Amino acid sequence: MTKGALALLIHGGTDNWSPDRWKLRFEDVCRDRRVILMPATGVDPSEVHYAAVWKPVPGELAAFPNLKVIFNLGAGVDALMADKSLPDVPLVRVAVDDLTNRMMEYVVLHVLMHHRQELYLRDSQAAKRWAPKPQWPAGALSVGIMGLGTLGIRSAEVLKTIGFRVAGWSRSPRQVDGVNCFAGAAELDAFLRRTDILVSLLPLTADTRGILNRDIFAKLNHTSPLGAPVLINAGRGGLQNEADILACLVDGTLGAVSLDVFTQEPLPADSPFWTHPKVVLTPHNAADTDPDEISKYVARQIARFETGEALENAVDRGRGY
Ligand SMILES: NC(=O)c1ccc[n+]([C@@H]2O[C@H](COP(=O)([O-])OP(=O)(O)OC[C@H]3O[C@@H](n4cnc5c(N)ncnc54)[C@H](OP(=O)(O)O)[C@@H]3O)[C@@H](O)[C@H]2O)c1
Repeated sequence: MTKGALALLIHGGTDNWSPDRWKLRFEDVCRDRRVILMPATGVDPSEVHYAAVWKPVPGELAAFPNLKVIFNLGAGVDALMADKSLPDVPLVRVAVDDLTNRMMEYVVLHVLMHHRQELYLRDSQAAKRWAPKPQWPAGALSVGIMGLGTLGIRSAEVLKTIGFRVAGWSRSPRQVDGVNCFAGAAELDAFLRRTDILVSLLPLTADTRGILNRDIFAKLNHTSPLGAPVLINAGRGGLQNEADILACLVDGTLGAVSLDVFTQEPLPADSPFWTHPKVVLTPHNAADTDPDEISKYVARQIARFETGEALENAVDRGRGY
């Protein structure tokens, strides 16, 4: 019997999302089924049983009447959830060590960058100024991670090993060894009060949109050796109020920020973030998805599904992540 085809719907633009590269990887790991890079001519939509997608055009997935599972090729499913015509079949997101460790690297890099006063030191180098300031130990700072899921937990573990005091905030109560865990709206203020460096690894949902705003920043600890708290957002741009961030950098509510994500991507050339001296920005590449790892992951999930095993990392559509 012919196996159901796998359709690839990949729109994104940057080098990592080259559709041809993904097609080659999928053909390698799905040798017994047809892999169709969409849009394609001569395709019978009813032969497609699986779709592996990145930012499909709304309505595109509804064209496959026999679709059984949708695989999102990244961890965040916010773009998909916005598609009102999304077929009502299981939706699986990415959760693999490769991606998790890439995000851990980004978070550790940026926490250390602010902790070790890199902005001041680069500025000193540019000015040929030999004037080191006193340096405090990692244990003098509390890092608070909003979103204690796959990515947040791994980052928390490594930051803890380095010596930072680490807390996490999630929707439901979590327990992570050596990490001070807070949950829900009732415990948010207590979490913020003890936080010097706020790391956002939240999914973008109706509940979290715009959560990184002045109210939250004002509640962070302002008495650490940093002088003013730092924000690091590698979740989604829609989590942050960008006008608030800029205003808070001016009045000292925030001391510096590292932003990997923005409400509009690519970031427009006239955005003040590009040149702001207290902003470290990266072009949404904190944790790239690797076609080799992710294609193998999707092939494994299809094999599980076809032998009646439960799919891993299925999205709860009610929660939105
Ligand atoms: N910049 C990049 O390159 C990049 C790459 C990959 C992913 N991301 C982003 O990172 C996000 C997190 O990924 P993940 O794999 O760690 O997701 P995950 O495993 O689903 O974890 C999400 C965490 O956020 C918490 N959360 C969700 N809604 C909340 C709310 N309303 N209040 C408090 N906590 C809430 C969850 O709480 P519970 O524990 O109670 O469920 C969970 O701890 C993705 O959704 C994506 O947007 C960015």
